Amino acid sequence: MTKKIGFFIGSLREDSYNKKVAEAFASLLPEGYESVFVKIDDLPFYNEDLETPENAPEAWTRFRNEVKDLDGVIFVSPEYNRSIPAVLKNALDVGSRPYGQSVWDTKPGLVVTASPGGIGGFGANHIIRQSLVFLNVPTLQQPEAYIGNIANLVGEDGKIIDGTMKFFETIVNAYIDFLEKLTK
Ligand code: FNR
Repeated sequence: MTKKIGFFIGSLREDSYNKKVAEAFASLLPEGYESVFVKIDDLPFYNEDLETPENAPEAWTRFRNEVKDLDGVIFVSPEYNRSIPAVLKNALDVGSRPYGQSVWDTKPGLVVTASPGGIGGFGANHIIRQSLVFLNVPTLQQPEAYIGNIANLVGEDGKIIDGTMKFFETIVNAYIDFLEKLTK
């Protein structure tokens, strides 16, 4: 059966570099895997007062069901002020509740951060990883994916350049091996 890999993109920008990076990763998934770009920009801010079966916002329920159905989760995000964009943190929080019913639990994860800056969103990468430890998302350790100077890694066609695609391929292969071992 086809396995579904969910992509969660921390940028809402139409021309986002991180979106381009996520699309590049999706294009490298091997046969038998399908990519799902999960919508996170319509999730109301997490508020525990709304957490009843009658009141939970429809978008929360849709999101939770979508994540439950995934075999793996890939986070691709910019760094905002040495941390992560609020929209992505909100998605992590929404998926983590109600207490004891987190939809993230045990799903193999991958964290990728891209920035026009030289350190490739290192800070954001580890802030995502910090939440994933608590959420019990086993996450690929190596190779790490800090994609610096991203503006120089996109060609005129808007696609990631070949040399970088080779690096992305190494990461995707390691992630799929990792996922297969965990889900055997
Ligand atoms: C940024 N940017 C940024 N870059 C970085 O490397 N470290 C940082 O801490 C920040 N902080 C930051 C805060 C805010 C509010 C914005 C809007 C931007 C720059 C950021 O990496 C750049 O705008 C990227 O192009 C954003 O990613 P997308 O939208 O291209 O995917």
